[in-house]
Amino acid sequence: MNILRQTIEFFVSLKGKLIISVGITLVCAIGFSTYYISQRERARLLDSSQEHATFVSHVILKSITKSMMDASGKDVQDILSMVISLEDIDNIWILNEEGRIVRYAKEMKTGGSLLSDFSRMTPGGVTVNRADDKKVISYLPINNDKMCWGCHDPARPTLGYLAVQIPIAKVEKEIALTRRFQIILAAVIVIIVSGVIIFLFSKFINAPLTELSGKMSRVQSGDLKVQVKTRKKDELGRLGEGFNTMVQRLREASKEIKMHHQEQLERADRLANLGELAAGAAHEINNPAGIILTRIGYLLHHAKKSRFSKSVIEDLQAVEHQTYRISKIVKGLLNFSKATSFFPHNVCLNEIIEKLLLILEPRLKHQNVKLFKNLVPEYSEIYADPGQIEQVILNIINNAIDSMPSGGNLVIKTDRVNGEDRDESLRLSVLDTGVGIAKENLDKIFSPFFTTKEEGKGTGLGLSISYGIIKTHGGRIEVKSEVGKGSEFCVYLPLFNGQISKG
Ligand SMILES: Nc1ncnc2c1ncn2[C@@H]1O[C@H](COP(=O)(O)OP(=O)(O)O)[C@@H](O)[C@H]1O
Ligand SMILES: [Mg+2]
Repeated sequence: MNILRQTIEFFVSLKGKLIISVGITLVCAIGFSTYYISQRERARLLDSSQEHATFVSHVILKSITKSMMDASGKDVQDILSMVISLEDIDNIWILNEEGRIVRYAKEMKTGGSLLSDFSRMTPGGVTVNRADDKKVISYLPINNDKMCWGCHDPARPTLGYLAVQIPIAKVEKEIALTRRFQIILAAVIVIIVSGVIIFLFSKFINAPLTELSGKMSRVQSGDLKVQVKTRKKDELGRLGEGFNTMVQRLREASKEIKMHHQEQLERADRLANLGELAAGAAHEINNPAGIILTRIGYLLHHAKKSRFSKSVIEDLQAVEHQTYRISKIVKGLLNFSKATSFFPHNVCLNEIIEKLLLILEPRLKHQNVKLFKNLVPEYSEIYADPGQIEQVILNIINNAIDSMPSGGNLVIKTDRVNGEDRDESLRLSVLDTGVGIAKENLDKIFSPFFTTKEEGKGTGLGLSISYGIIKTHGGRIEVKSEVGKGSEFCVYLPLFNGQISKG
């Protein structure tokens, strides 16, 4: 089972694929060239056998011509027997014009091959036939020359044929030997070339790739300190450099996220502490401030009635105004502390917005602000504390109206978006064409008591309270702003899906 798995892994790996493709290519190339070369070698050896047969035939014919002239049959026979004992020849025949055997060097069954070959012969010329894989037979015509006319009819062009059979088993053996040698050579070449390729591949490709994939697994498991060694300037070197840069960026990004997360935690912590402090302080200040306001009211009433000097009345009015401010800030602080108590249920965000816009209508008209509304038509239910969400939206819209003292446009939109780390959220966008927020203030607007509004108008608590509320609801607030052009506040809240969402 283990071996089977390893074999499959090998075939699937780059190394396996390379070896197989190189092996197949080499075997095909060498196989083809071996076959081609051996065929050519065979043809060459056969040609030389045939030449040899023709040559021997000529020599024999020359030798026997004189004996034939002398009509000495015995001499002819002796020559044939001598030649056959000397040369590597199977047999020699003298045939008449019809191909019938007249004389032979040794008795031998021709198996009809002589006759069948004979019929394929070119009349008058030398014909060499390969009877089968074992022999070559050459036919040389015995011409009826002038000197023969004493015994033969001059009208006959040939008197017969001299046939010589040469064995080619030796040639075949040589060919087989050459082929075997070539096959062994091919196998050795395939093994050596594959070995060299495997070595080069392992050293220059596989080793760096294995290192890279190992380091990649470490990055996957969260280790962002890994780096690969990049010594070469080739593609793999560049891949390694790219990997190192990527890991470095990841490391930086993760550091930034951690820092941001830490900051958020600290801010939430500060807000929570502030909430407790605010609750205590508000409780302590609210009552005396209320009493002071009532008493100042009486005092002012009496002072006016008793026609006190203008400066006394103005002083009293200043005290009343400042006490009123104190009570307003305290109210803000009380709201802030209330934001920590959270009673959620499923509510429709669109409905909350519609209700608030109804209340805000007179203010919008008064401030010359044109409203554009585009609320998501479908399901807009969130799991939220409606009082707290109202507080957030009211504050954001009021801030937007405040930023447009001489009028402008206000856009209120809701839509559904896919969150980065959660499924679907509802997004509320509030866009204004107001004064905008300076870049250096963007970080501060969520801090408690940060305000750019004139004395008595802003407490600087609205956005910090809103931030805490949205966080408790498992959402987030984003701001984009450009000085002189306007701002956009986006509140993301998780859609209600029947489950209680946690912040
Ligand atoms: N839509 C807006 N346009 C310009 N500035 C804004 C906007 N919303 C908030 N701000 C800035 O953020 C500050 C803090 O807002 P907030 O916390 O609501 O306190 P406050 O409204 O009491 O000043 C504001 O004073 C203002 O400078
Ligand atoms: Mg505000």
